[in-house]
Amino acid sequence: MVPMTSSSNANFPYMRLRRFRKSAGLRDIFSETRLHVSDLVMPFFVTHGQGIRQPIVPMPGQFQFSIDQLLQEVTEITALGIRAVLLFGLPQVKDQQGSEAFSSDGIIQQAISAIKSHDPEIVVMTDVCLCEYTDHGHCGVLNDAGVDNDATLDLLGEIAISHATAGADIVAPSAMMDGQVGTIRKVLDDAGYNQVGIMAYAAKAYSSFYGPFREAAGSSPKQGDRQAYQMNGGNIRESMREIELDVAEGADLILIKPALAYLDVISKAKNSFTLPIASYNVSGEYAMLKAAGANGWINEKSAIVETMTSLKRAGSDLIITYFAKDLARVLKEGIDE
Ligand code: PBG
Repeated sequence: MVPMTSSSNANFPYMRLRRFRKSAGLRDIFSETRLHVSDLVMPFFVTHGQGIRQPIVPMPGQFQFSIDQLLQEVTEITALGIRAVLLFGLPQVKDQQGSEAFSSDGIIQQAISAIKSHDPEIVVMTDVCLCEYTDHGHCGVLNDAGVDNDATLDLLGEIAISHATAGADIVAPSAMMDGQVGTIRKVLDDAGYNQVGIMAYAAKAYSSFYGPFREAAGSSPKQGDRQAYQMNGGNIRESMREIELDVAEGADLILIKPALAYLDVISKAKNSFTLPIASYNVSGEYAMLKAAGANGWINEKSAIVETMTSLKRAGSDLIITYFAKDLARVLKEGIDE
């Protein structure tokens, strides 16, 4: 074997990498990273009522949907080839415990069964957290010291059971409580739901990129912030520990969130674990591209493709993104405007 670096043929002017860039066909066959519509998960915000399609101001093109409207939307995304959704709910009433989160006729429980009766083939993932449902806006219940980890676990377990009962395929605990994956796995199994999967928000950073979501879901903490439970974004070794623990507790799928500012975390997770890896291109990442696109400062469609390609290249098996529909269209029709 000729060592690559010392071979005279391996260098310019003999070797020219532009050879494979000169036509669309060449570029295409040597493309290392390919996006596919089945990589995408579309998040939805579901609200009570009828005929509601309430625009979410900081997330142009996204809406809070009542269930009837949501079903129309689901029909549209499935026609585009998208196979999976992730549901977030807006409750009628908020209280200290976030009771609607685990009520059998809560908004999400209704949405899950409506979607499943509409089309049983759609993969339904659900957010398991309290922040949209509590009057104080934290992801767990409070005691004098702040968010009470272990008391919150019981409620997260109840939420997971209620989603499984309504027909969810995968529950996604996002509260960042210690032990949430293990607790949920146990209560699901004890209740006979051993086929329901868990997507663990393993490495979820404390992030300014969740801002638009909190407006969409009405889930900002009234007092304080989430730094006592969400991770310090600079800690990649701690991210790996979060993942290790979630794997040990029974996670089926690992989620890294946010995505763009955490590409190294995605890549390290992919190289260190054998579970599927999902990344969440969050609301603030969506808002940035939308704002720049709307101003004509970037070509929005190609920026979407480039962004999603980076998430895939870093190691994401699944990409949760509000751009799912736009991207599915681009993948079908190409970019030309
Ligand atoms: C919390 C939750 C959040 C998001 C998903 N689940 C917000 C938060 O932690 O404050 C953010 C998603 C996004 O920004 O798109 N349950």
